[in-house]
Order: sequence, then structure tokens, then C-alpha cells
Amino acid sequence: MQHITFHRPDDFHVHLRQGPDVGHYARDARHAGFARVLVMPNTLPPIVDAAGLSGYRREIEVAAPGLKALMTFKIRPDDKNPGADRIRLTALKKAGAVAGKLYPEGVTTHSADGIRRLDDVWGVVALMEELDLVLCLHGEVPQAFSLDREKEFVPWLERLRQSFPRLRIVLEHVSSADGVQAVKDCGALTAGTLTAHHLLFTLDDMVGGKLDPHLFCKPLLKRPEDRQALLDAAFSGSPQWFFGSDSAPHAREDKEASLCSAGCYTMPVSLSLLVQLFEDHGVLDKLEGFVSRFGAEFYGLSQNQDTVTFAKEPWTVSKMYHNVVPLCSGQTLNWSLTGG
Ligand code: NCD
Ligand code: ZN
Repeated sequence: MQHITFHRPDDFHVHLRQGPDVGHYARDARHAGFARVLVMPNTLPPIVDAAGLSGYRREIEVAAPGLKALMTFKIRPDDKNPGADRIRLTALKKAGAVAGKLYPEGVTTHSADGIRRLDDVWGVVALMEELDLVLCLHGEVPQAFSLDREKEFVPWLERLRQSFPRLRIVLEHVSSADGVQAVKDCGALTAGTLTAHHLLFTLDDMVGGKLDPHLFCKPLLKRPEDRQALLDAAFSGSPQWFFGSDSAPHAREDKEASLCSAGCYTMPVSLSLLVQLFEDHGVLDKLEGFVSRFGAEFYGLSQNQDTVTFAKEPWTVSKMYHNVVPLCSGQTLNWSLTGG
């Protein structure tokens, strides 16, 4: 096959940061071919209320015309006064928030203000179910051993699933066979996002030879059998699985450093890599559901009407985008976005 055309895709997990960089990253998302991006709220300061959310959305959409920002807020512990949370969440919903993101404390970039115990956010999560806001989970327990953090989060997911039967829940950037199984077991109102880098790489790609800081992300890349479980999920054609790049830019000096920040800048390359991956496995027919349909359906959005076309034409990834080293920096990839 030399060309592939499919409905314009969406990316259900991106970091666009704050300040002057927002425009760069938002425009990269548009140039990569995405119609809509679900914007994570772990900015400095975080997105926690309607005014912050509306201002951030405006900034993104002004910087990148044509890109639709689907907004999230960061979940904070329940207010002592439950009336205050109701007012804040109702205003967030009215301002267009589609989801709230739960970060356990200290689990990843800018999560020092995260939560310690599920009980601390019980009231907010109950309100989210009532208001039909999606709950997005960074599904790792920070105290656990790095490779087991997602596995040890599974009881948190199960408790949420059982306690809030109408709540839509997304386990973000699923990285392990245990995470895959947990999402499947939770049924249709639960979904998992998958990144291109977790589908393509294992821990050995990061640390098996010389250390590659540009593959360091949370959750960590894992074992070959975990990767296989992610591939099976992505290729299954089940609407429980859709694409979220977790594109997470950090300045070069923060990655090539003695204390390296977690996150891979995958935005410029994710789609090209996914076309290649699905082609290599003979499942190109499953790509459109994964990148253009199931996420929209889960979030209750209509499918994008226009299309993108990728052609089998080699291109070389820039070494650097705005002082950020992207995934596959300087490498030649086979599939180019040529239309749309
Ligand atoms: C993300 C970031 O840098 O904001 N980092 C990462 O390693 N994925 C946060 C996150 O999604 O964990
Ligand atoms: Zn992320």
C-alpha cells in the first residue's frame, strides 16, 4: 500500500504547557494532523477552575487556528465545604470541561499537589459522575516499585468502577499487561488510552544499552510481554482502546540532565509511527477506529468529517523542535502526512 486515507484523528492526551511555548506545541499538534486534542491540566499553575480553563483554551485556539482543545481540570482534594466543590465543578462543566484528571501525589511531572488517597477526592468524584464529567486517571501508585506502579493501581481503579457505576473512566497511557486486563474487566464505561511509544518500545530501548533520556516517561516503558498486551489491545478493534499520545515536551537541558524530567515529545512523529506499526502487523484496517473513532465515541463527540492522507514517502524528523528533542530525532520515517 502506498497511500492511506482516514477520518481526521484526535489525540486524547497531550501536554501543551504554559507561557510562550503553548503556541509552538499547539501548532505542532495541528501540523501533525489532529483535529482535537485532550489537554492535560498539569500546567504551572494547574488548571483547576472555570476561569483558568477558559483562558487556557483561548490561548491554545488563538495560537493554533483549526485545532480544537478539549479541556480538562486537575482534581484537587475535596473542599471542606462541599458546596464550594459543587459550584466550582458546575462552572467547569459550563465552561466546557470534558474531564477531570487525577494525579496521585508526586507520580509524575508537576504532580506535587496530587492526591494521597482516593477517600480525599470521593466527594469530587461523586460530583463528576453526577455532572457526567469523564474521570481520567494517571494510574500509578507512587510508593510502589517503578515497574509495579500501574499494577498496584488496579485496586484503585476497581474501587472507583464499583463505587461509581455511571462514571466514564479512562486509564491513561496504559503500559502493562495488568493495566490492559483491568480495563477490559471494568467493561464498556471504562477505556484505556495507548501511546505510540509504549506500543513501540520496551524498557530495554531506554536502558538496555546506553541510557536514552528521550525515552524516559511515566509510566515507564515495560517488559516485552507488557508491550505485547498493549499491541493486542490496540489491534483488537475494541472501542475500549484509543489513542492518546501523552506527548510531553521538556526543554533539552531538562532531559539531557543529571535529573532527567519524565516525558517524551512524540507529537511530530506519533501518527507516522502508528501507520508504520499497524502496517507492519497487517492491521491497517484497525487504525482508523483507534485514532479517529473510538475516542470521539467515548467522549460523546461526533467523528471528524474531513480526512488525512499518509503516503509512503520517507521524511527525516527534525533534530529539535523549539529546544525540545522529539522522539525519533533525526531518524527517517516511512510515512508522510501529505493531505489534510
Ligand atoms: C508528563 C508530563 O511531562 O507532563 N510526563 C510523562 O512522563 N508522561 C506527565 C504524565 O502524563 O505523566
Ligand atoms: Zn501525560
